[in-house]
Amino acid sequence: MSDTSEKLKRLDIDNDLRNKILPLCRLKYGQIWEDKMSGHRVGVLDASVEDDVLKISQNKKVRLVINDPPYNVVVGNRNTENLFKKNLIEYIDFSRKWIKNAENIMDKDSHLYIWLGADQNDGFQPLCDFMIMMRDFKTLKSRSLITMRNQRGYGTQKNWMAVRQELLYYIKGNPDFKVIYTDIPKVLKGYYKTINGKMTDNLERSRSDCIRPGNVWIDIQQVFYRMEENVPGLYAQKPLKAIKRIIESSSRETDYVADFFSHSGTTLLSCEILKRKCLTFDLDPLFAELTIRRLENYRQTGKTGWQWNNPFPEIDS
Ligand SMILES: C[S@@+](CC[C@H](N)C(=O)[O-])C[C@H]1O[C@@H](n2cnc3c(N)ncnc32)[C@H](O)[C@@H]1O
Repeated sequence: MSDTSEKLKRLDIDNDLRNKILPLCRLKYGQIWEDKMSGHRVGVLDASVEDDVLKISQNKKVRLVINDPPYNVVVGNRNTENLFKKNLIEYIDFSRKWIKNAENIMDKDSHLYIWLGADQNDGFQPLCDFMIMMRDFKTLKSRSLITMRNQRGYGTQKNWMAVRQELLYYIKGNPDFKVIYTDIPKVLKGYYKTINGKMTDNLERSRSDCIRPGNVWIDIQQVFYRMEENVPGLYAQKPLKAIKRIIESSSRETDYVADFFSHSGTTLLSCEILKRKCLTFDLDPLFAELTIRRLENYRQTGKTGWQWNNPFPEIDS
């Protein structure tokens, strides 16, 4: 039987592994990789630093920002530089800075999506504090609070199993929004209405045989090591299906899309597949390198990730 265990440990907590991979990373802090083929840009930059964000954008305005910052919740009992838990005031101050930087590069009609969490063991921070902080940004209007259902949860014995992942949606100006559908067939008939003298049910009247995602997404598989799109060594990879859904509904081909917390490069890869141009970066050079390699690997093999295999074969021997 072949060995299907993941070939990399969590990159943010294994220092020996980090030290082996760092020399393989082509970018250092402040540097940007430019993609000659589709016009994407990938950097090692800090989301909270105004000059860094201006550097990646080069005065271009983006139609869509999809940001997935650290949630201020400790993941797997480890507090690391990548996924930290800080004092809440500091966390909100950090968030305010990167939101200001995002707003600054957003087009006059544009969309902003933010993935966030609510720590049920700590007064539901930082979600509620973040939402209140957002009210200070008068140009950003709240539009939706989406919940994506995870398959794996925690706290099943003495509490409701926690399976939610929150996604905040704001707009600037009056951007276009494209209605899209899931793959879930409509099964319920009803909601009768007379149209041109004929009694019709909702299925006859609708534009699709499938339901719309609405603001509760139950049809997206969480990434795990057996899926092709899996990037080993990571802990917070978002599913391509979720990011593609956001991009398809909230941007058009050739638009610029930004992501300040690239990690596995899911936004970059989705942009490549959907013909948008991605401006993305991560503070950690390892993740910027993985982001670039994921795109290169996709172009060479057509594969969206490495499943359980090693994206850094140089360190295999
Ligand atoms: C939750 S992960 C993002 C997951 C990503 N959406 C994906 O699908 O792979 C957060 C990322 O933010 C990065 N990060 C933390 N602080 C940052 C900062 N100040 N600027 C840019 N990136 C930062 C971490 O290194 C980590 O890769």
